Amino acid sequence: MARSPFSLEELKLLQQAMLFGEEDIKYLRMSYAILKDQTNDILDVWYGFVGATPQLVYFFSNKNTGKLDGEYLAKVRERFAAWILQTAEAKYDQQWLDYQYEIGLRHYTTKKNKTDNVNSVPVINFRYIPALTIPVTTTLKPFLAKKGAGAEDVDKMYTAWLKSVLLQSILWGQPYMKKGEY
Ligand code: HEM
Repeated sequence: MARSPFSLEELKLLQQAMLFGEEDIKYLRMSYAILKDQTNDILDVWYGFVGATPQLVYFFSNKNTGKLDGEYLAKVRERFAAWILQTAEAKYDQQWLDYQYEIGLRHYTTKKNKTDNVNSVPVINFRYIPALTIPVTTTLKPFLAKKGAGAEDVDKMYTAWLKSVLLQSILWGQPYMKKGEY
């Protein structure tokens, strides 16, 4: 895995700029136990949305035939499940930062299609990445409420998730930017 060109110190400054603090870490970690056995159901909803949105399903299609590559989708889904729990762990160390860089590269031309050795389109257009922050977190909210947490806790977990996914979508944008402008 490549080393992130973005340092932990820079990460801290970015978190401060988006009012991401200790309380968010606490509520992300609270969500872990709630989400642990629900990742499959969450992914059904997320993939349902992607599948029903042609401009998104395009990025999972075969470059030559234009048809959805179901195997590609299934393989990414497994890594997505692990990502849900990793986001809930909220452990912001060098390994996490390096993985963020790696995810950015896997959405960009550098590494898209490489992990699964598929013949799909070469890049996910950047504009869709921050856009997906909204459906990802909106569809998550009902799952946060399914295990009996109070309304205030559900709200705070939801806000922490929104900030974390936005933070990650910002980090994933780095490969798309000109050097020095990120
Ligand atoms: C907030 C927005 C997004 C989140 C949270 C997200 C999450 C993820 C995660 C966790 C992975 C797996 C990373 C790994 O390989 O370990 C992944 C890969 C992927 N995502 Fe996203 N993603 C987002 C935006 C998008 C958008 C807009 C699309 C367009 C449909 C997309 C399509 C893909 C594809 C095709 C892969 C596989 C890339 C490859 O390795 O070839 N993602 N995403």
